[in-house]
Amino acid sequence: MDRRNSPVTICVSSGKGGVGKTSFTVNMALALARKQQRVLVIDADLGLANVDVLFGLHVERTIRDLLEDGSDPMESVLYLEPNLGVLPASSGVPEMVNLDPDDQLRMEGILQDISRHFDYVFLDTAAGIGPSVLWFNHFADHNFIVLSPDPTSITDAYALIKVLSRDYQREDFFLILNLVTNEGEGRRTYDNVARVVKQFLKLSPQYFGAIPVDEAVVKANRERIPFLKLSPQSKAAQAIVRMADQVLKLQKACSPT
Ligand SMILES: Nc1ncnc2c1ncn2[C@@H]1O[C@H](COP(=O)(O)OP(=O)(O)OP(=O)(O)O)[C@@H](O)[C@H]1O
Ligand SMILES: [Mg+2]
Repeated sequence: MDRRNSPVTICVSSGKGGVGKTSFTVNMALALARKQQRVLVIDADLGLANVDVLFGLHVERTIRDLLEDGSDPMESVLYLEPNLGVLPASSGVPEMVNLDPDDQLRMEGILQDISRHFDYVFLDTAAGIGPSVLWFNHFADHNFIVLSPDPTSITDAYALIKVLSRDYQREDFFLILNLVTNEGEGRRTYDNVARVVKQFLKLSPQYFGAIPVDEAVVKANRERIPFLKLSPQSKAAQAIVRMADQVLKLQKACSPT
């Protein structure tokens, strides 16, 4: 399908830090690019950028520069493959972490402008439930929540879903269970979270898939190469490829907020 001028925008968040948002995003983007989709990854962790690290990129211009000089955002996109672009963020810039209203307006313009050139846009956010995380989530068509079976990860994912549904009227949540020992653990964790979300928030988050604990992920991240590339036969890579087919079925939200 030609989605020219109308990309599907997916925000990847977690609540708890270090549960695999960036690993998921980077590899999913590559999987979709290999399926002939035009994909953009935006590093929405504006204060502690990570996407460039996992892709092994050398960054010269960042979102911060765009906000400051108003230049053409396409000039700041780095291409890993002809149809896989990255818009990098900056690291160690505390004032960028929380977007003020002027920055929000400018950022919205940049996202709309740049997104027209792609089929899928991924927003890889920071951990936590700070203002910039909530803002990027409210902008997206779909909200992907990455969590592990760790109780603190479950609690933080629930807190994020609660705030996004209560304060931003988000309803369309997809759960990705990372760092599971097997698919069964992923399903059980999902069932537990979904039951609580249904009971207290009256929402039905959807199961999107599970990614096992896999040494291939650790190795690839250390070498700054996506695991899909370094270890295509690994269990984690196979899980990403399966989920990519589901991403292809996602539609643009009917009424973007
Ligand atoms: N499936 C997995 N198996 C083994 N290790 C993993 C897996 N997923 C992620 N990791 C490891 O967990 C660590 C954190 O991963 P990653 O940076 O993707 O998380 P994050 O949620 O983006 O973190 P942050 O909140 O800091 O942005 C990395 O060291 C990564 O190698
Ligand atoms: Mg990250």
